Amino acid sequence: MTDDRPVHHPVFARVYRAIARVAEGRGLAEHRAALLSGLSGTVLEVGAGDGANLRHYPSSVTRVVAVEPEASLRARALEAARSAPVPVTVVDAVADALPLTDGEADAVVLCLVLCSVPDPDQAAREVARVLRPGGEVRVLEHVAAAPGTRLRAVQERVDRWFWPRLFGGCHTARDPLGALTAAGLSLAEEEHHRFPPGSALPVSPHVRARLTS
Ligand SMILES: C[S@@+](CC[C@H](N)C(=O)[O-])C[C@H]1O[C@@H](n2cnc3c(N)ncnc32)[C@H](O)[C@@H]1O
Repeated sequence: MTDDRPVHHPVFARVYRAIARVAEGRGLAEHRAALLSGLSGTVLEVGAGDGANLRHYPSSVTRVVAVEPEASLRARALEAARSAPVPVTVVDAVADALPLTDGEADAVVLCLVLCSVPDPDQAAREVARVLRPGGEVRVLEHVAAAPGTRLRAVQERVDRWFWPRLFGGCHTARDPLGALTAAGLSLAEEEHHRFPPGSALPVSPHVRARLTS
């Protein structure tokens, strides 16, 4: 089932861009480059935001389809697309109904986005649908802390109380790899880290991962 409510978070979009600028300087730019390293062919990026990943795509990528439903972020992504090192098409669409045919993508990039979609399981099924057999999914997401930890309890509380309303629908206690493996994708690599390094915020636990179809 798809969710066709418009994604409209202009205030969050401004706040996110300010936070992201600081984060880029604290190592996020290096995580983005590592996330995209070695990709080739047609790549679908879901929830591309202001296009912060676009400058990091390697020249072996022949085409990026960058999906972004939030109008003000999409406008920034369009600007970033103009100076990207590879051809980029920016599309107004949502993760629930991705604008590619079955098996059209050689790779799908999910970067800090499954926290914010209304239905991560449906988004994961869509990712599996558009990925060609043998294709790969690159993931950089913040994730739920281990069950039973104090940080996990904090995440569950802030998700109930205010976090999604303040931060454009973001949830801190999600399990993106669980959604993707439940959709039939196989986990090939995963690396867990805190971002920013050493922090203990609800969004600190991160994973960078690679899954295959
Ligand atoms: C935290 S931002 C991350 C942006 C970007 N991926 C980055 O790495 O900076 C979350 C992004 O998910 C997008 N988003 C929210 N709901 C979405 C949906 N249903 N489908 C696709 N993207 C969505 C937001 O508009 C926003 O661009």
